[in-house]
Amino acid sequence: MGASATQPERRGLLRSYCLRHPAHCLTRSADPTCARTSDPAMEACHRKPGNPMVGDEAAEGACAEASGASAAKTMLLPNILLTGTPGVGKTTLGKELASRSGLKYVNVGDLAREGQLYDGYDEEYDCPILDEDRVVDELENQMSEGGVIVDYHGCDFFPEHWFHIVFVLKTDNSVLFKRLETRNVAIDYLSHSLASGLRGYNQKKLKDNLQCEIFQVLYEEALGSYKEEIVHPLPSNKPEDLEDNINQILKWIEQWVKDHSS
Ligand SMILES: Nc1ncnc2c1ncn2[C@@H]1O[C@H](COP(=O)(O)OP(=O)(O)OP(=O)(O)O)[C@@H](O)[C@H]1O
Ligand SMILES: [Mg+2]
Repeated sequence: MGASATQPERRGLLRSYCLRHPAHCLTRSADPTCARTSDPAMEACHRKPGNPMVGDEAAEGACAEASGASAAKTMLLPNILLTGTPGVGKTTLGKELASRSGLKYVNVGDLAREGQLYDGYDEEYDCPILDEDRVVDELENQMSEGGVIVDYHGCDFFPEHWFHIVFVLKTDNSVLFKRLETRNVAIDYLSHSLASGLRGYNQKKLKDNLQCEIFQVLYEEALGSYKEEIVHPLPSNKPEDLEDNINQILKWIEQWVKDHSS
């Protein structure tokens, strides 16, 4: 990767500017429903009998059990986490998925803004710091009911048992660069800051977020926070990816409901 820092150091560095500070962020290569995947986590899950991702009804729930989703049996609908670097398409996918599946969509950044769920202010990045405990408290009731799609660019502070499946969206660097740069230009324009120095600040955020994606910070965080059997990368580069992802997740939800309806 060409960086001198060790992976934990890089991770710590990236966390400090990406994962804890929702406001500063300017902002697959696996097929979850079939066995033709190059993702080892998916492979492992597919090999298990009763994998809900492949519709084996004979021995339900190997992956759900592995997830620690102990309340799954009492829920009618699963909880889904969409995570990934800013700009990879979590909100685009989450909203469309919610509208087609009937599940409820929760954007943690919006929730925090609306409820002012912050714990101080980061001067360096000029943004509020998320109060993770209050976010968890705020979401606890609806998560225990099930049927919630959560969208956030961090995932290690949510209770592990909340989620039955975790998708980490991934975008190629060149594509992500264009998306984030477009945001930068828009934000500069809105803030009339082209000549004020804010542009340079935004460029730093852009670079930081690209590094976050390059080093797979969110994917590693997801693997470190949830059973790897339930963590799945999803490509999010082009509109066809969006459609594929939605269709695959809809199939997975359908199968989950079947598996948990008796
Ligand atoms: N599969 C896709 N193909 C092409 N463009 C996409 C795709 N998914 C998202 N986009 C575009 O990428 C941009 C960023 O998407 P979006 O806002 O959903 O990302 P995000 O992950 O929610 O970012 P943030 O974490 O900053 O909220 C939007 O302009 C969106 O239209
Ligand atoms: Mg978003």
